[in-house]
Amino acid sequence: MSTNQEQRTSVIELTGATPFASGDNRLCFRHPDFPDRCIKILREGRARSLQASSPFYKRAMREAYFDDNRREYRAYQQPAIVRGNAAYDRHIARCFGWVETSLGNGLVTDFIADSEDEPAQTLEAYVASHGLDEPVRQAVDEFCEFLRRSLVLTKNLMPHNLVLAEDGGDLRLVLIDGLGLSTVLPLAKYVGYFARRHVEKRIQWFNFRLEWEVSDRSVSWRDTETRFRFRGVSPTYRLKGF
Ligand SMILES: Nc1ncnc2c1ncn2[C@@H]1O[C@H](COP(=O)(O)OP(=O)(O)OP(=O)(O)O)[C@@H](O)[C@H]1O
Ligand SMILES: [Mg+2]
Repeated sequence: MSTNQEQRTSVIELTGATPFASGDNRLCFRHPDFPDRCIKILREGRARSLQASSPFYKRAMREAYFDDNRREYRAYQQPAIVRGNAAYDRHIARCFGWVETSLGNGLVTDFIADSEDEPAQTLEAYVASHGLDEPVRQAVDEFCEFLRRSLVLTKNLMPHNLVLAEDGGDLRLVLIDGLGLSTVLPLAKYVGYFARRHVEKRIQWFNFRLEWEVSDRSVSWRDTETRFRFRGVSPTYRLKGF
């Protein structure tokens, strides 16, 4: 993770600014000082409502535990990223740490732009209009090979948490949300075998989800997902030493 976020002493004024996008948990703003970065702010009351709706055994955790921004920041500290054996910034927005804003603490990451300097399109939006065409299939394959090589740990790869950067005529997938582990035991963080299993399962789930995205969706995702079966780590993957 890059930690060289140039500090500015004043609070960044975001009150009244329009976020360029938002998700269930966070508002995303362009960074006023660095146009190639964005600032993510937790939506007001979001941590509290997640805490209230969590299972009873998690409810005792402090509210900060449910803060998506803090979780993501911690996920950037995972060994595969911190050790930096493989460059990851082609496929994962880099994190530059925290800034203080008028809306609270903000997490700064790369802003992924399209050729017009607008926010890059999500994979979800792309497949909704183009389907799984050849350029996007290639981008998906390249992204999956990157995960196998780097063993960067992610949660389930949701198509709205990946955006498509454009390199000349080629598409490149960049993960902008969803790093880390959602499993209870963090074995995959420390043991290669479990990391490979974890990554392979996310890849198979991702491809399964993409097939559903382009299907007629007559079966809901909730019902479809119950049919997902992890087929294990293929011998080629093991032999290649990923
Ligand atoms: N670094 C980025 N570069 C370009 N667009 C981004 C970036 N980060 C977020 N976005 C856009 O903003 C949307 C919401 O951002 P993000 O996924 O971080 O919010 P969230 O609230 O954590 O999402 P979720 O609803 O998945 O929990 C994304 O789906 C994407 O369209
Ligand atoms: Mg998201």
